[in-house]
Amino acid sequence: MTFYITTPIYYANGEPHIGHAYTNTLADVSARFHRLYGEDTFFLTGLDEHGQKVEQAAALRGITPQQHCDEMLTKFQNLWNRLDIQPDDFLRTTEPRHKKVVQEVLQKLWDAGHIYADTYSGWYELSEERFLTDKEMEEKGYTADSPEVTQIEEKNYFFKMSEHHDWLLQHIENNPEFIQPEGRRKEMLGFLKQPLGDLCISRPKSRLSWGIDLPFDEDYVTYVWFDALLNYISAPLSHGGVENLNKLWPQVTHLLGKDILMTHAIYWPTMLHAAGYDAPQRLITHGWWMVDNAKMSKSKGNSIDPLAMIEKYGADAFRYVLMREMTLGLDSDFSEKAFVLRLNTDLANDFGNLLNRTLNLLKKYFDGVVPEPTVVGEAEQAIEALAAKTLADTEALVRDFKMNQALDTILQLVRHANKYINDEAPWSVAKTDLPRAGTVLYYVLEVFRLAATLLSPVIPGKMTSLLNQLGLDAQDLKLAWGVLPPGTQTQKPEVLFPRQEYIEKETPMENVVENTEKKAEAPAAEAAPVVEENLIGIEDFAKVELKVAEVVEAERVPKTDKLLRLIVKIGEEQRQIVAGIAAFYEPEKLIGQQVVVITNLKPVKLRGVESRGMILAAKSGDQLSVLTPLNEVATGASIS
Ligand code: ME8
Ligand code: MG
Repeated sequence: MTFYITTPIYYANGEPHIGHAYTNTLADVSARFHRLYGEDTFFLTGLDEHGQKVEQAAALRGITPQQHCDEMLTKFQNLWNRLDIQPDDFLRTTEPRHKKVVQEVLQKLWDAGHIYADTYSGWYELSEERFLTDKEMEEKGYTADSPEVTQIEEKNYFFKMSEHHDWLLQHIENNPEFIQPEGRRKEMLGFLKQPLGDLCISRPKSRLSWGIDLPFDEDYVTYVWFDALLNYISAPLSHGGVENLNKLWPQVTHLLGKDILMTHAIYWPTMLHAAGYDAPQRLITHGWWMVDNAKMSKSKGNSIDPLAMIEKYGADAFRYVLMREMTLGLDSDFSEKAFVLRLNTDLANDFGNLLNRTLNLLKKYFDGVVPEPTVVGEAEQAIEALAAKTLADTEALVRDFKMNQALDTILQLVRHANKYINDEAPWSVAKTDLPRAGTVLYYVLEVFRLAATLLSPVIPGKMTSLLNQLGLDAQDLKLAWGVLPPGTQTQKPEVLFPRQEYIEKETPMENVVENTEKKAEAPAAEAAPVVEENLIGIEDFAKVELKVAEVVEAERVPKTDKLLRLIVKIGEEQRQIVAGIAAFYEPEKLIGQQVVVITNLKPVKLRGVESRGMILAAKSGDQLSVLTPLNEVATGASIS
């Protein structure tokens, strides 16, 4: 069986972000699973290099479009390397092997009469460099007199997409798996209730030159979608020609975001149909990663930099969370706080702690050598049954791209092993019945070996380290129970998933905002009247000396749960401050943080500990937040 999976080829106009990282991780994870299932797998991704956006991005930077694309290529490929994404092919639309196929298909369609030239006249928006529909004209509030638009007439080439309307409708109706999830399929069926127009497939070179020439009119280049979509066949054709394509086509899975469903569900199958190819087997459409419930975009400046996440938490952690936190088809809000919580719960606690405990017990009672499972009872049969079910359920879920559920299923097995070891208590059994204790440890270790197999497509790096700790290698990644050979010498346990700390940066601001809002809402009569005596002059404020300091030491003051003893650095000086914030902050969390200190207060002693200064904090109800500069500044900086 062959498994061919593709991702969209991303526009070379902007930097890669978490959305691109997500689709490619999903494709990579899926390809690795299918390889594990013994299928001949081909995973294709690439870069969409032509079109106006790229031409404009390059022009803005004063370089050629090709130079711009070459630079973007480095950025995308760097991300894929860092994320451990291993495609079998990476296609750039500027490569000759791709251009050749695009031109061949265009020529074929032209020769067979599927393409015609027509003069189009309409409202052209100069700033956007495109024609507007009547509806868009209305929405933008433009009239015939608006300077933003001019009526222009332009010859262009059109693909007779309308002729394939009935065929496409039938195809979608007869092949429920073609467009997934089902909601998206309904959406496309709804769209096809209206007549289907023809598709403009060219741009005159006077308007856009960065594209592939039409083979039958050198004054024109191909419209970007006609160019980009064909990557899915030009890549397989370029290795092994039609024979290779026939091996991979039409059993192909296109992964895509819902933003480009129309082009994949309507343009693409009709283009293929006209050119004599079968429609792709299925389109798997996912939702968007959002930030604060808004789609990430360049203009909002709210996109998440995948490299920063990898830097901070590692590629495997990032891959795990991307796969665990998105339900296919739905949007998902990306939050670093939820990310860290997920890592700590699933990987550091459930997985990591049990692994460490087990390897330590093995070391203690068996010198680190895997024992023979000789005393097997009902609890062990239950584990084997659960392992078999986990294997089957995971495979079904993975084939349906339900990666979040697949991961949950695998973690359930690990959680079961946690309960099992607690119930069977090998540490106390070992005193009287070593073979029984050995059996329990064997079962837990074999759960880890199996979990390593099932998690290896998602977190390949960490699972390689796990195999090493177990004294195994890649050959032991098998989808079966009872693979771990008794007698294996395990290695010294190492922490696979260190607990991560998430330091909330936004909260102080939120608290302050909340406070002022509450004040503003208070009815005027209740608000404190502003009396002249309550105001201070600038000279009064100047008496208070405020400086930026960095916390270098923090610990609890003994015998009170309120106070922390801090050592702060203020420029060259270090001093001790006692702060009543112990109920709100773990001391370790404060180390390295910048705070604001009042430096010219008379020293006092709190619980016998000298305090020279005060740190500023905002208090609202039972919440407290230490104030910190918005951007890092030199310690000792004075505040005015
Ligand atoms: O559309 N959440 O390229 P593109 C999840 N070149 N996924 C996201 C996302 C988000 N917020 N933002 C983007 C193009 N994506 C064309 C494709 S294919 C023949 C040509 C992902 O750079 C998602 O896969 O705009 C989406 O479909 C794709 O990036 C769009 O990438
Ligand atoms: Mg886009």
